[in-house]
Amino acid sequence: MERTYLMVKPDGVQRGLIGEIISRFEAKGFTLVAGKLTQLSRDLAETHYGEHKERPFFGELVDFITSGPVFAMVWEGENVIKSSRTLVGSTNPIEASPGTIRGDYGVHVGMNLIHGSDSPESAVREINLFFTEDELVSYKKTI
Ligand code: CMP
Repeated sequence: MERTYLMVKPDGVQRGLIGEIISRFEAKGFTLVAGKLTQLSRDLAETHYGEHKERPFFGELVDFITSGPVFAMVWEGENVIKSSRTLVGSTNPIEASPGTIRGDYGVHVGMNLIHGSDSPESAVREINLFFTEDELVSYKKTI
C-alpha cells in the first residue's frame, strides 16, 4: 500500500487547523499511520527542502518552517501521493481551487499550511527523514 509524508506547517498549527486537515484525509478514506508534533532543527529543515537550496526564497522557507512546531504525519492508501496533493491544492493558495486545503484556508505562498510529498521517491525520502520504522503503525481496519 502506498504511503506519503504530509506536514502541517507552523501557520496551520498556530491557526488550529491540525484537526480539520486530519479530518479531510480521514474522510477521503486514507489511514493515518504516524503523527507527531515536532519542532524542526535548521539542519533537518535544510535537508528536507534541499532541492530548493538555490531558490531565492530558500532562507525564508527554512526560517518559516523552523519558526514553530509542525505536525508531521504519514498517511497510507491507494494512490495517496497523487490524491493527497489534489486535496492539498496548488502551491500558491491564491491559485488553489476552493475545496482544497490551501484554496480554503491560505493566501500566502510561503505560509501555505501543509507540505505533501510530490513523488514516490520524495515520499520514501521524507518519511525516513522524519520517522523511524517503529513509529509507523500499520493496521487493518476491522470496523
Ligand atoms: P512546499 O510544498 O512545502 O514545498 C516548497 C515550499 O516552498 C512550498 O511549499 C512553498 O511554501 C515555498 N515557496 C514556493 N515558492 C515560494 C516563494 N516564492 N516564496 C516563499 N516560499 C515559497
